[in-house]
Amino acid sequence: MAAEKRPSLGDATRGRILYGGDYNPEQWPKETWHEDVRLMKAAGVNSVTLGVFSWAKLEPRPGERDFGWLDRLMDLMHENGVGVVLATPTASPPPWMGHLHPDTLPVTEDGRTEYWGGRQHFSHSSATYRRYAAAITEDLAARYGGHPALTLWHINNEYCTYDWSDEAAARFRTWLRDRYGSLDALNSAWGTAFWSQGYGDWAEIHTPRQAHYMKNPTQVLDFKRFTSDMLLECCLAERDILRLATPHIPVTSNFMPLWVGQDAWRWAEEEDVVSVDLYPDPRDPLGAQQGALVQDMTRSQARGPWMLMEQAAGPVNWRGVNHPKPRGLNRLWSLQSVARGADAVCFFQWRQSRQGAEKFHSGMVSHAGEEGRTYQEVKRLGAELARISGEVTGSHSLSDIAVLHDWHAWWAGAQDGRPSTRVDHADVLKAWHRALWEAHLATDFAHPDHDLTAYKLVVVPQLYALTDAAVDNLLAYVRQGGTLVSGFLTGVADQDDRVRPGGMDARLRELFGIRTLHEWWPLEEGETADCDGFRGTLWSEEIEKADDSTTEAVYKGGELDGLPAVLRRGRAWYLSTLPEPGALRDLLGRIAYDAGARPVLDGLPDLVEAVRRGDLLFVLNHGRDAVTVPVPGTHHDLLTGTTFRDEVVLGRRDVVVLRS
Ligand code: GAL
Repeated sequence: MAAEKRPSLGDATRGRILYGGDYNPEQWPKETWHEDVRLMKAAGVNSVTLGVFSWAKLEPRPGERDFGWLDRLMDLMHENGVGVVLATPTASPPPWMGHLHPDTLPVTEDGRTEYWGGRQHFSHSSATYRRYAAAITEDLAARYGGHPALTLWHINNEYCTYDWSDEAAARFRTWLRDRYGSLDALNSAWGTAFWSQGYGDWAEIHTPRQAHYMKNPTQVLDFKRFTSDMLLECCLAERDILRLATPHIPVTSNFMPLWVGQDAWRWAEEEDVVSVDLYPDPRDPLGAQQGALVQDMTRSQARGPWMLMEQAAGPVNWRGVNHPKPRGLNRLWSLQSVARGADAVCFFQWRQSRQGAEKFHSGMVSHAGEEGRTYQEVKRLGAELARISGEVTGSHSLSDIAVLHDWHAWWAGAQDGRPSTRVDHADVLKAWHRALWEAHLATDFAHPDHDLTAYKLVVVPQLYALTDAAVDNLLAYVRQGGTLVSGFLTGVADQDDRVRPGGMDARLRELFGIRTLHEWWPLEEGETADCDGFRGTLWSEEIEKADDSTTEAVYKGGELDGLPAVLRRGRAWYLSTLPEPGALRDLLGRIAYDAGARPVLDGLPDLVEAVRRGDLLFVLNHGRDAVTVPVPGTHHDLLTGTTFRDEVVLGRRDVVVLRS
């Protein structure tokens, strides 16, 4: 049977960059809806997301439906040329549900119930919740599946609830039976011989609730896998209903960026459109790089164009101190997403709320209204996106470098009782991506099981746990001519978090030329390990090299004096410490060069980023000072119509989109 052809983001964009955001008109009187439409049209908004948190309005009492208001809005949007991304409202059940069915509420690790009054107060395992969610999804699909405004389905919102309830425990047991088949296999995988934890009956197994001391790490690991799978089950149940009703309409569910609880590789396989919410801190000097990381990861998960579902036009309201976006930053970061493959630039939310928990979170129309700087900048951006839409949508670029990331390795490594709580998987990942970003090297992300052969360089910031198959994949990659660079705490454990003999997979030790890994020497806050040419941070190791490996840098002074800090065997490199940022940038830059990967442009100043998308070159100035950037050849800036020869002049936070 031929594979089913699924709709994609292209079916929703139809050649335009989607521009708009979450729209919550139920918070506003009808007069405001008409004002909204006027402002949307003036700003080039062509897409709004309706209904994300509308469950109580759509189903005011169990089983009742009130679609009238949404009918009017769908029509209003259509009449004004604004497409609708229609959400299933299942992220925030109405109060009656928790009141009538306490079994729909999630339970925390220490047995407390999470009540309504906020949002995301649903148990992924609750049969009652799932039944109500399916029913409202079916009715939305039946009512709006044929509406001409509908472009895309948006399921739930940032799935992210954990649940330790009894019902979750029952599902956990079923999940474990499917995974292990027998209690013997489970006891072996979990290492329950330790601390008298052996299970004699499935009924004895619980979600890893509050315990007196450290919990069984594999039970916790499996609980994380289970949580990601249960949330996915909820998502797929809704997706399948929508697909059945509207096979031609693509489906998405928005990710939180680099959120620990969701195996986004796995989820992305199930989605027609991969979408993400992105909120770097405007004050963070590395905000642009943090954005770039998420954009690279999302593009890699999508394997093509993706959707920026949410960003903030100004400040958020959930940090301790919430900074606005200075002039030009919204435009710059929006175009950075487009450069890295986004075909949709959307915001949370259209109009800033006057009530509720997010009234101090920005909107595209801020409290300052039409005259406010935020809306004025939104308007300019809309015009610019329209100008470049036809040239960018649908195009996709691959990089020569892949950064490997795997949620299961993250979960396994982030347990109690490890050598250093200072080692944070996400921070290590960010440090390596930053090094490549600062070296102006374009990067994809990949999973350790993916086919890596197209890449000139593969880097492994940290994959604490690796399956045998993943190790095979890495070995095959190097055997076939690839260059691999790995950071510490890689290949330590198998998929059950069982430490590999020798403290690191034997085949990986051989690959990198490590004879013996004697001890780990984690570093304290502020402590560094001197190496020849740089300083290491966070971690160091007592390694004995194999005869045929080359020491590229040694530890100097201290207990590890003279031992290898950076080791190489052929094209396989091992870094037993985290070099300071500049040193990691230089080292990876050198290795990339030798592997044949080149910076996007030569001679780029710091804080200037160049990104290729299809035939276009985006050059972005993340700095506050104007810069002149050498770009050989003659280029036409699609945003302003300016022609540049051999160099491009960029003002503060400016960006150009060049066609040569
Ligand atoms: C997102 C969420 C939105 C809104 C936004 C505020 O996580 O999906 O509904 O709350 O954060 O930054």
